Amino acid sequence: MVNIQKTAIIGCGFVGSTIAYTLLQRGTFSEMVLIDADTKKAEGEAMDINHGLPFVHAMDIYAGDYDDIKDAALVIITAGANQKPGETRLDLVQKNTKILRSIIHDIKAAKCEGILLIVSNPVDILTCVALKESGFPKERVIGSGTVLDTARLKYLLGEHLKVDSRSVHAFIIGEHGDSELAVWSTANISGIDIGHFSELRGSTSEEHVWEAIYQDVRDSAYEIIERKGATYYGIGIAVARIAECIIRDSHAVLPISVFLSGQYGLQGLCLSIPTVVGQNGAEQVLEIELDAKERQKLIESAEEIRKTLSQIV
Ligand code: 2OP
Repeated sequence: MVNIQKTAIIGCGFVGSTIAYTLLQRGTFSEMVLIDADTKKAEGEAMDINHGLPFVHAMDIYAGDYDDIKDAALVIITAGANQKPGETRLDLVQKNTKILRSIIHDIKAAKCEGILLIVSNPVDILTCVALKESGFPKERVIGSGTVLDTARLKYLLGEHLKVDSRSVHAFIIGEHGDSELAVWSTANISGIDIGHFSELRGSTSEEHVWEAIYQDVRDSAYEIIERKGATYYGIGIAVARIAECIIRDSHAVLPISVFLSGQYGLQGLCLSIPTVVGQNGAEQVLEIELDAKERQKLIESAEEIRKTLSQIV
């Protein structure tokens, strides 16, 4: 029986501990267990985060092991190597697949019945690996995918159009990586077509402007890693949002990484597609309208992922 108020975070590096800190601040769970191959690191993070409790909400936060995750409703996996400057997410595949396989083995041994949320990179590949190794139903194994990239797109469009980024509705889909694509054909500002909104705001809406914004989104992680060595605040809040949609059964539409079984003519791999997210995980993978160019780019992105999947040893 899962405890809907309980989460586990596996991997307490920058990303895992930032997710823990964000979840503490948002009061999403009442119990949170932190697990790391370096137990001292997990203990230190739990101690540090616990000291914020008097300022927020009651919550039980502790460093634990796999026995503690049996009843966790959500297991967030961030363990693995991070990108170094100049490395792509796909460069991490062999090391992180090995680490993930061993984690999934332990999760299965703990008889965990929760949802697995993969955050480690390359996230689409690792979501596929987790699904295969766990044998869990596909709804229960998801990746953070392009939820962060979509937030980056909304932020940059908000800046360009001088509008609250929460009024921006647009998606980045495909691989969380270099082959991702922006779905411009349905992008809108609170229901107003993006080109029209741009005119209303006296902003330029030429093709090259959107292309430059897309490239900035795609290359954001490289730019941040170049400057500060890692990214963790953006992903921290993006993962907290996914966790909330699951725990509150909110049926929000988020571009998480999901297993495709025929949608868009694609199957047998995970990539990011707008999906209804609730207490059962990926409730419905949405087959949204794409124009011919976007459909082609999505197929090419899937090909990139498939190529990497075939190289996993
Ligand atoms: C990011 O996009 C590195 O995947 C991480 O920030």
